[in-house]
Amino acid sequence: MASDWRRVRSDFPITRRRIRTADGKLRPLIFLDHGASTHAPQPVLDEVATFCSTRYANVHRAHHTLSQEASADFEAACETMGRFVGADPETQPVVLGHNTTQVLDLAAHLLAGRRGTTLTTLAEHHSNDLPHRRRGKTLHAEVDGEGRLLLDSLEQQLQKNRVKLLTVTGASNVTGLMPPIHKLARLAHDNGALILVDAAQLLAHAPIDAKPMDHPEHLDLIAGAGHKAYAPFGSAFLAAPSNLLDEAPPYMPGGGTVRWVTRHDVAFKGGPERHMAGTPNIVGAIAFAAALRYLDRIGMDAVRDHEEELVRLALRRFAELEEAGVRLLGPTGEQAAPHKVGVFAFTMRGATHGDVSVRLDREHAIATRNGCFCAQPLLNHLLELGETPAWTKAADRGQNVEIPGATRATLGLYNTAAEVEAFADALRAMASSRT
Ligand code: ALA
Repeated sequence: MASDWRRVRSDFPITRRRIRTADGKLRPLIFLDHGASTHAPQPVLDEVATFCSTRYANVHRAHHTLSQEASADFEAACETMGRFVGADPETQPVVLGHNTTQVLDLAAHLLAGRRGTTLTTLAEHHSNDLPHRRRGKTLHAEVDGEGRLLLDSLEQQLQKNRVKLLTVTGASNVTGLMPPIHKLARLAHDNGALILVDAAQLLAHAPIDAKPMDHPEHLDLIAGAGHKAYAPFGSAFLAAPSNLLDEAPPYMPGGGTVRWVTRHDVAFKGGPERHMAGTPNIVGAIAFAAALRYLDRIGMDAVRDHEEELVRLALRRFAELEEAGVRLLGPTGEQAAPHKVGVFAFTMRGATHGDVSVRLDREHAIATRNGCFCAQPLLNHLLELGETPAWTKAADRGQNVEIPGATRATLGLYNTAAEVEAFADALRAMASSRT
């Protein structure tokens, strides 16, 4: 299956969808919003349907057969998530949550009781910044004008401050850049810190290997979400050291988190269950594991190679579009392909990011996203707007401001070179009609 990309594409029912464009024509959808969410392929949908129709029951706490089966399926699913990123289920188990935002918040919670500063970066999604700020002193590692982490200054920050956690995206949802997470892990460990990787944009795009716990480049905490990895919405995981899970207070006390409760006292469980109150998203976990098995069958090296080819093509086409006023944020030129996943945020001279996105949809049936991508500090930096851009004050005064931002195309498993070409041609036509 590894190189049969036509077959992979045919697994996704959404690829048969057509969109009526403004000229009245029905056109095949070109979906370039995988950074926001991915569609499920038929084998994943089938597994979900089978579970829901033959094994569906609440997990744990019941002796009947269905509950026993559902519990076994659920536990196996969590183990699949951990193993997919190389985490040892004994020492680095998985806590199931609802989305990456929640499990990153859980990670911040787990570290909250430890002394020290959190070092995040300017390249982060708000979800890997704000939960840390909320829980204590948080510093930001700097990036250059293309969004690349400045490793020397990051190392100095690690040395000068008592950092307990370095938290970094595995792949930026704005530039697509993949920071050297294992090198960063080594730097963090050398300076007494743990590392957390927000793998939301990486999980389904390149292999991840947590490495053994005693390895200097071990990834201590890893967060990922199913809906960005070809499962439907609603499931996410955090792989975390079991000692950290045991030492932190329960994330949300409640059903399933306790060993016993009396009128005045309570003894909480250890491990993942300590932090998973209430009925988990069991169907979501089943779907997530099915999607990861689907990716495994293709092979994550093959997935990465395939995407890198498309990234190279897109970078080539973006370079040609520069003179037409299309500016790609982040690194440009084909040589950047090995360092980034298929995320392309761009601006077009003379057009707002919203207009570009709307025209791509209405005229070409191309789905993109626009705005700041929940990464405003990075957007402000890349667009050279300063730390506190004027529009923030205008927005505070209640004025209706057009927030500066970009339009973004993001690639997924079933995108083709022809779709990348069609997208670039559409941008060319739109840019020409404005110059
Ligand atoms: N965080 C998701 C994105 O970057 C929604 O689009």
